[in-house]
Amino acid sequence: MAQPAYVIDQLISAKAIAARIEALAGDIETAFAGTDKLIVVGLLRGSFVFIADLVRELDLPVEVDFLEASSYGDGTESTREVRIMKDLRGKIEGRDVLVVEDIVDTGHTLTHVIGLLRSRQPRRLETIALLDKPSRREVDIKATWTGFEIPDAFVVGYGIDYAQRNRNLPYIGTVRFLDEA
Ligand code: IMP
Repeated sequence: MAQPAYVIDQLISAKAIAARIEALAGDIETAFAGTDKLIVVGLLRGSFVFIADLVRELDLPVEVDFLEASSYGDGTESTREVRIMKDLRGKIEGRDVLVVEDIVDTGHTLTHVIGLLRSRQPRRLETIALLDKPSRREVDIKATWTGFEIPDAFVVGYGIDYAQRNRNLPYIGTVRFLDEA
């Protein structure tokens, strides 16, 4: 089905994202200081750019793994029902784990993933979200670290898509549908 026409307005520049990631990496290094191994779990697909930049700022022994949870399909509304499409390759029992999410919106995805991973008894489990839309929350959850709080708008770029498009933008932008104007 054809997507409606839209334009993208820049919300957060590539430079601002890079500066924020540097600061967040410092906080994560402090929190996990002395770890023998930090397993950084990226939630596919939206976090792939964020996790790539984040791990390169982390001066810790890290391992990277990925988990895919279903979310919006090809629309802009959450389905609320979270399904695991691809599980971790490695075990996390007794390990230090950092879950990396692109956006916490309603909160259903992160809540589900945390519940699943906690049941596997990691030593420590923390979460980081690049973006947070607190006004959209339906379940009471907050990531340990957040990059930016943003208003209730549909965003793309820096790994985040609209119907699989625009993940390659180096900045975060809001989608403005032209028939809404
Ligand atoms: P939640 O379960 O409602 O918190 O949604 C989390 C997931 O929905 C995120 O990981 C994104 O994949 C997707 N999502 C939420 N808001 C947006 C958005 O503004 N643009 C693109 N994807 C989004």
